[in-house]
Amino acid sequence: MIEQTLVGIVMGSDSDWPVMRACAEMLKRFAIPYEAKVLSAHRTPDAALDYAACAQERGVKVLIGAAGGAAHLAGVLAAKSQLPVLAVPMPSKHLQGLDSLLAMVQMPGGIPVATFAIGEAGAVNAALFAVAMLALNDHDLARKLAEFRVNQSDKVLSKTLPDLP
Ligand code: RP5
Repeated sequence: MIEQTLVGIVMGSDSDWPVMRACAEMLKRFAIPYEAKVLSAHRTPDAALDYAACAQERGVKVLIGAAGGAAHLAGVLAAKSQLPVLAVPMPSKHLQGLDSLLAMVQMPGGIPVATFAIGEAGAVNAALFAVAMLALNDHDLARKLAEFRVNQSDKVLSKTLPDLP
């Protein structure tokens, strides 16, 4: 049986994959059916618009848009879809992703995107946020998320620091 895709990860370039892989891995860890695609707001604008326009009728519940530089991809997805759009700023060559962050977080009022941290932390947190949204209507997933958080807390609490010489 083919599983219904619930989360669509869209990145502007395959050069974003080394960072966005962490997002896909986290979704996989929670057994969330996802798809990951390269679609660019400026290099393949029609394909990006079509993808966003059709996502909801295909059963997708959350879109995650990752891009670097003048990072308008997430905003473009949100312009064509009422699904929640999570934006992950990619580290950029000259400005280390600050340009991507500002482009995403400063969406003018009316078409929101929820913007996460630059880079891998943002990629992981976008996945966890998607899990939290999906868990609102899925008790089993909510239980898995609670377990994940308990395990994370346990790991932190088990840390020890070296004694001074
Ligand atoms: C954006 O431009 C992509 O999201 C990527 O972060 C950045 C650079 O893309 P490449 O030139 O590496 O393909 O569209």
